[in-house]
Amino acid sequence: MLSVTEAVIELHDVSLTLGEGASSVHVLKGVSLQVARGESTAVVGPSGSGKSTLLMVIAGLERVDRGTVKIAGEVINERSEDEIAAFRGRSVGIVFQSFHLIPNMTALENVAVPLELAGHPDPFRIAEKELSAVGLQERLTHYPGELSGGEQQRVAIARALAPQPAILIADEPTGNLDQLTGRQIADMLFAKAAERGTTLMLVTHDPALAARCDRQVAMRSGRIEQPAAFAATA
Ligand SMILES: Nc1ncnc2c1ncn2[C@@H]1O[C@H](COP(=O)(O)OP(=O)(O)O)[C@@H](O)[C@H]1O
Ligand SMILES: [Mg+2]
Repeated sequence: MLSVTEAVIELHDVSLTLGEGASSVHVLKGVSLQVARGESTAVVGPSGSGKSTLLMVIAGLERVDRGTVKIAGEVINERSEDEIAAFRGRSVGIVFQSFHLIPNMTALENVAVPLELAGHPDPFRIAEKELSAVGLQERLTHYPGELSGGEQQRVAIARALAPQPAILIADEPTGNLDQLTGRQIADMLFAKAAERGTTLMLVTHDPALAARCDRQVAMRSGRIEQPAAFAATA
């Protein structure tokens, strides 16, 4: 049985409604989940089942209405917005389907500037090291528009990993890429996570990618469908 100290993600009975009035949606309906440090998890399920929202809750980008969210030892749902932003900066890296790079910044600046804003010493040196680690040492001064989709996603991975987060979250990271490039990006995510002991949590519609994770969590209509391998006992 998983002890509390080993869990890096602990959600207990989390509920969340998004939107106002007639257009409000009860997106998460009592979700409980524990993820061990270093474990990789695929979140799967139909479109609209709450997968992205679940990741946003774990990243502290959505605040829950009910339940507790404990990430890397911090109960984040009780924290102020500033505290949550600081938590996110040190503990969570995020990779999106559509890369979300800043178009008027070079690859190097896309990785270095967030580090600089977070007060890291030597952000440009770290950024160069991280971009080299994803094979982009020859692309440092390129802008996102001058890079292929796979290259843009590698910049996003370098940016996400640069602060050495405990958790790497990836929402359909291969969804906008061709099959071969998607495979290379997936290989990179798994390799980087394993190398650093990072807990990887990804959403995917690709059964082959989901099967590569240590564990799959299936969502349906805002609930986790099958009992998680490490069900919460608290
Ligand atoms: N800001 C919002 N306001 C209202 N409804 C939302 C909002 N964000 C998401 N939803 C709804 O919540 C449900 C789950 O969304 P999402 O987490 O994006 O699902 P998935 O990633 O599984 O496709 C969907 O029905 C979606 O329309
Ligand atoms: Mg989604």
